[in-house]
Amino acid sequence: MSENSLPRTAKRLTDYTAPAFSISHVDLCFELDAEATRVTSVLQIKRNRADVPLKLDGQQLTLISIALDGQLLDTTDYQLDADSLTVFTVAQQCELTIICDIAPQHNTALEGLYMAGNTYCTQCEAEGFRRISYFPDRPDVLAEYKVTIKADAERYPYLLSNGNKVSEHIDSDGRRVVQWHDPFPKPSYLFALVAGDFDVLTDKFITQSGREVSLQLFVDKGAITKGSFALESLKRAMQWDEQRYGLEYDLDIYMVVAVDFFNMGAMENKGLNIFNSKYVLADAASATDRDYFNIESIIGHEYFHNWTGNRVTCRDWFQLSLKEGLTVFRDQEFSADMGSATLCRIDAVKLIRTAQFAEDASPMAHPIRPEQVLEMNNFYTVTVYDKGAEVIRMLQTLLGRDTFAKGLKLYLQRHDGQAATCDDFLQAMQDVAAQDLSQFRLWYSQSGTPLLTAAQRYDATRSQLILSLAQQTPPTADQAEKQPLLIPVQIELLFNTQASQRHLLLLNESEQQYLFEGITEAPVVVWLEHFSAPVKLAAQYSDDDLLLIARQATDGVARWDAMQQFWSRKIAQQVTSNASEVALPAALFKLLQHWLEQPGTDMAMTAELLTLPDFDTLAEQYQLIPVDKLLSSISRFKQLLAEQLARPLSSCYNALKTGPYQYQDNDVGLRKLRAVCLNYLAQLNDNQPLLHTHYVNSDNMTDTMAALAAAQQSKAAVFNELIADFASRWQHDALVMDKCFALVASQPGEQVFEAIDTMLTHPLFSWKNPNRVRALFSAFSLRNPQQFHRIDGKGYQLLADTVLRLDPLNPQVAARLVTPLLSWRRFDDERQQRMRAALQQIAGQSSISNDLYEKVNRSLD
Ligand code: PHE
Ligand code: ZN
Repeated sequence: MSENSLPRTAKRLTDYTAPAFSISHVDLCFELDAEATRVTSVLQIKRNRADVPLKLDGQQLTLISIALDGQLLDTTDYQLDADSLTVFTVAQQCELTIICDIAPQHNTALEGLYMAGNTYCTQCEAEGFRRISYFPDRPDVLAEYKVTIKADAERYPYLLSNGNKVSEHIDSDGRRVVQWHDPFPKPSYLFALVAGDFDVLTDKFITQSGREVSLQLFVDKGAITKGSFALESLKRAMQWDEQRYGLEYDLDIYMVVAVDFFNMGAMENKGLNIFNSKYVLADAASATDRDYFNIESIIGHEYFHNWTGNRVTCRDWFQLSLKEGLTVFRDQEFSADMGSATLCRIDAVKLIRTAQFAEDASPMAHPIRPEQVLEMNNFYTVTVYDKGAEVIRMLQTLLGRDTFAKGLKLYLQRHDGQAATCDDFLQAMQDVAAQDLSQFRLWYSQSGTPLLTAAQRYDATRSQLILSLAQQTPPTADQAEKQPLLIPVQIELLFNTQASQRHLLLLNESEQQYLFEGITEAPVVVWLEHFSAPVKLAAQYSDDDLLLIARQATDGVARWDAMQQFWSRKIAQQVTSNASEVALPAALFKLLQHWLEQPGTDMAMTAELLTLPDFDTLAEQYQLIPVDKLLSSISRFKQLLAEQLARPLSSCYNALKTGPYQYQDNDVGLRKLRAVCLNYLAQLNDNQPLLHTHYVNSDNMTDTMAALAAAQQSKAAVFNELIADFASRWQHDALVMDKCFALVASQPGEQVFEAIDTMLTHPLFSWKNPNRVRALFSAFSLRNPQQFHRIDGKGYQLLADTVLRLDPLNPQVAARLVTPLLSWRRFDDERQQRMRAALQQIAGQSSISNDLYEKVNRSLD
């Protein structure tokens, strides 16, 4: 800990106590004003425990008055602190009226009530409601809300909040006055308010029981045509949840608002989702296939929260994965059903193997249910979300789809209207499965990435196959001791002359053996098919085994994974061999050529099979990351493939043609495969004109980005020309300029520093907009390993300066940005020193936010 910083105290899961007071009803009135919005809050309070004063959370509020049962209180009746208000004497039941002022215009943290351009909007998860009014701002206090919003009638045609609209009129001051009522009790973090002028897309959905739900999507004026894909996605999500889980929407109206300033992807506020506009707006010209995919999945995610999150919420924030892991799992299943299931799974696996494994190996390592939190915003992590989803997936694998679905049903019935825990969820699963899940529970409390070691022995004389598995979880920054977990290991046995066999092995000890009788030939074992558990795998494979799996495995994910493992091994050999070049087998080129010549019907899959693992995936396979050697090996092999396969790459590229842009599976795959070919071809000097042609001929953002990315990665001379053209063509579209910023910041050459500087002066760049900041600086720190990890430390320095500049404006975004620096221990001495210096510079500032403080101090400890 740096000397001039105060020790700040974390909260612990084990310290949980039930709320001393309940609130049955909240009546809120907002008189909107950019500088001074007046918030009047009337709370119906009931005491649950004797002898405690009423303590309410509140931050950055200007208190105007408090009245208890109609009686104004004076300063001897209460105590005001920086983040709380304590009322000393409160009866068993009472009505508390609190008036305060807030200043949305100056709220750059984007928590509480803030302005996104001219739009007023709120973000209350996790602890933002306390910036709106004094309240027990914790998820286990559920109340029924009535909300009145008053604002200038002309400038604010739409005044929105949760639930159903009760009334609307214009008052004598020319103010619009709208009242809302949400019949479902909810925690404060699900409260939302929006005021603005929008284009509105409307539609309706008839639920399975025949109720009509009005759907309303609010977007910036002029953007109406870009909203239809999101609205269609919403209807697909509503239908899917009915079909898969029998879950129906419960209000008569469902609203989604797109705003330009947002810290995260989107927010599931009851009946009034608020979205980062990046995850709503799309058309062929400005959005990529990936953007379309993200929109559908995030629209689904927020919709699915209505049951897993809203109807049943979390008891405390340590239980975050209860709603997030489960809802990510649900959105993944939805996406898998809407498009290519294999591709969805590959995406999920990549994320676990990069960001999540990195988090487990970092000073911020935590279980999916964290035990200690200083700043809750720091725990909206890939561990809680995505490893959390993997844990749910394992449960489905263990129980089977039907039992899992029954368990979910039981959990929702049992806890409807309540704030629940991860244990409640597991209990419901255990009850329907009649299976003891006590060892499985460890996945909730134990952090770290297990290493699974697999081996096989075949005894021809006895026709026996003996498989052995061992597990070991290395210690993490937060936990030294680890216990064996229950790990579902799906396998496939591939034979030469007979049909393959698939099995599910359960590993629940440190080491275990599995005997298979009547096996008449030695198989190749596909271990951990479909990535059946979030673990690292060490298996004895020969090159031939891996290529066989890549050709023949039933599971597409396993085929892709075999290629990833193949390359990981080759690169590892190259990294350790001193200078001598690792040879590639002829069989490899034959196989790759075969795929290029016959890309099959699943071209996206073929594209994945042809793609080398990226730097981040490889880096997680090393304790000490050999940055330079990894980068040079990747580029050597990429170059080699381009040279050796030039002809089939070219023919494949030329053979792939689509009609006018459509976001549709087959076309998506085709564009993806074409982009992969282009990327290799760009490595060869003769192919420079191809980049230009691809760019010029493109009628959609996916192809345009493919050309730009290929030019950027191959350091082609034409990159500067293309990116300049792109920037001028899209200079007025912020979401597309984000793509431009990201391309500029992730270019591997050292001109990147100057280029970033130039972009900071772009009229659309703003330090106050998280999308802009991330487009530049996350792209730089996460997708530009060459320059971020420069040995001279210039990359680290840039990130530290940026983080410090951002912290006073938006601590949440600043703390997310600092993440890559935390893992300094995983680099060579010289880089370690420079990364530490950057962190110390941050820690040395006297008034950094809790967000930054928690991460930086954990890292320097
Ligand atoms: N609960 C949101 C989601 O997962 C994420 C979020 C968290 C948004 C905190 C804003 C602030 O869907
Ligand atoms: Zn969520």
